[in-house]
Amino acid sequence: MSQVDSVGVLGAGLMGAGIAQVAAVAGYRTVCRDVSQDALAKAQASIAKSLARFVEKGNLNAADRDAALRHLTFTDDLDAVAHTSLVIEAVTEDLAVKNTLFTDLNVRSPHRTVFASNTSSLTIGAMAVASNRPDRFVGLHFFNPVPLMPLVEVVRGVTTSESTMSAAMEFVQRLGKVPIEARDTSGFIVNLLLVPYLLDAVRALERGAGTVTDIDRGMKLGCGYPMGPFTLLDFVGLDTTMRIGEIMFEEYRETRYAPPPLLKRMVLAGWLGRKSGRGFYDYSQDPPRAMG
Ligand code: CAA
Ligand code: NAD
Repeated sequence: MSQVDSVGVLGAGLMGAGIAQVAAVAGYRTVCRDVSQDALAKAQASIAKSLARFVEKGNLNAADRDAALRHLTFTDDLDAVAHTSLVIEAVTEDLAVKNTLFTDLNVRSPHRTVFASNTSSLTIGAMAVASNRPDRFVGLHFFNPVPLMPLVEVVRGVTTSESTMSAAMEFVQRLGKVPIEARDTSGFIVNLLLVPYLLDAVRALERGAGTVTDIDRGMKLGCGYPMGPFTLLDFVGLDTTMRIGEIMFEEYRETRYAPPPLLKRMVLAGWLGRKSGRGFYDYSQDPPRAMG
């Protein structure tokens, strides 16, 4: 694979916005595409807010912030993304949606363009086949919030070429992040361990082990975690966590990955966490109020 000189991001949600931000800050011309105008507007606002925070804290100078904003374009046009040298997909965790997008993108993109997926739990190999460029397909799994979390899992599918792997590793380093190589198994390294923990917290709540607040306090103050599991679940998105659990359960058939009934019911109610204003906490209250 030739060097990455421009980046396309598919999906302008929580992760897509963060990925577009760090790519633009690293100096790449970056095109961020979503099917929803509302998502594009929110992404633009969240990137501006995050960059302002970095400037305020003295971690980015104003000229670099302005340069990053100049590197960024927001669009609903798939062709605008197709002509970048690395396309990173961060749309909803649904294989059919991702595959349709990769199949469509493949006919629009030049041969040299590398495709990557930020999937949390889906099989890189399945998307590599749908993209029809199996050697130029790799997993790039970022962590939320992308501007702050230093890790990226670089996932080698069975068909990923050595040159794609090394270009992906180099790209991650240029973002100022730390790459670790993971095999193409559902959940890769981090989610294999993190997802059962988050789902177990919901099961503990269902069993009445403690309240949302006390379970969160327990893991924060007792184990030194930066956030308790319910704060983190709200942060990741309950819909996304439920999809990840379903996919991992389908792969491993182990009950530790099965989404608990309470999680499903909250998603059905539209309580998706911070992004919908309510999850295990109600964010219309200041400070956010924990679920009863
Ligand atoms: N952009 C820029 N700066 C930001 C920011 C943003 N989006 N969010 C926070 N900050 C800054 C704050 O201004 C603050 O700066 P100072 O330290 O200079 O004051 C600093 O970052 C810390 O922020 P806060 O005080 O608000 O919050 P915090 O101390 O709790 O840190 C956190 C925030 C880094 C997110 C920390 O809580 C944390 O590490 N949480 C765990 C996150 C985690 O586990 N992520 C993984 C999720 S799982 C996943 O991503 C994989 C998957 O597939 C689902
Ligand atoms: P999100 O719900 O915040 O955003 C998804 C976005 O995709 C939405 O804006 C939606 O409009 C858009 N979208 C849907 N179909 C599209 C299409 N065909 N073309 C373009 N855009 C489309 O979700 P998210 O949390 O950003 O997750 C995105 C991906 O990143 C998922 O695969 C998820 O598993 C993965 N991921 C999420 C996290 C997390 O903490 N939320 C962490 C790492 C990886």
